[in-house]
Amino acid sequence: MVKNIVVAIDGYSSCGKSTLAKALAKKLHFIYVDSGAMYRAVTLYFLRNNTDLSNHDLIIDALEHIDLNFHSRDYQSHILLNGEEVSEEIRQMPVSENVSRIAAIKEVRKAMVRKQQKMGKSKNMVMDGRDIGTTVFPDAQVKLFMTADPKIRAERRYNELIAKGENVSLEEIFDNLAHRDFLDTTREESPLVRAEDAIILDNTDLTETEQLDFAIEKIRPFIV
Ligand code: CDP
Ligand code: CDP
Repeated sequence: MVKNIVVAIDGYSSCGKSTLAKALAKKLHFIYVDSGAMYRAVTLYFLRNNTDLSNHDLIIDALEHIDLNFHSRDYQSHILLNGEEVSEEIRQMPVSENVSRIAAIKEVRKAMVRKQQKMGKSKNMVMDGRDIGTTVFPDAQVKLFMTADPKIRAERRYNELIAKGENVSLEEIFDNLAHRDFLDTTREESPLVRAEDAIILDNTDLTETEQLDFAIEKIRPFIV
């Protein structure tokens, strides 16, 4: 098998990127990296420290105190913030409500992209996010751009959070997804945009198995 294949999955919030990325990693025995978890963990750090999020100088200076690491278990992506596993906490609403403004800061993005590119060296990997096919790995062999009906996306995320016992409303989730998509697509620094050579995958009416089959067909030429 050819080594160092990168599958880049980008798209809007909650449209199934990480579900597909994990399933692909498991099936193909690739490493899975959730780049969104990195922006979320950085945001959590600032929230825990009560940092003034409008003070970009403070945020940029503090970046050197943030150490992020992944450890892979069962093709899940577990993230460590300064040695502490925070995979669950970064999914909660306070982080979701603030992450896109932190992710829009140029210096934050530079630091994350550097780290992501290092992780992709000499490994077969699936990475999902917003700028993977455009900025992080513009030469990725396979690029997928995922989308789905906004209402369906909100319902899926709502069901997921309710099952975890979070106290949220469907309206709150819908608004958060719409707000993040707005910030992510309109920011100056590597906004969410489909790479010209990315294949669109709209999974509004697809099951998780169907979207996996679709992606495998696109990757197959590179792995045989
Ligand atoms: O899973 P969900 O769609 O809720 O989002 P995520 O992938 O965890 O990403 C959270 C936020 O991080 C996004 O809304 C973006 O603001 C930011 N992000 C980014 O800017 N670039 C990436 N490569 C990944 C995430
Ligand atoms: O990573 P991203 O934020 O794009 O989305 P996700 O966390 O992979 O998916 C959000 C929710 O949609 C999860 O609960 C998935 O199980 C669900 N999903 C689904 O119901 N059908 C699909 N075809 C894809 C995802």
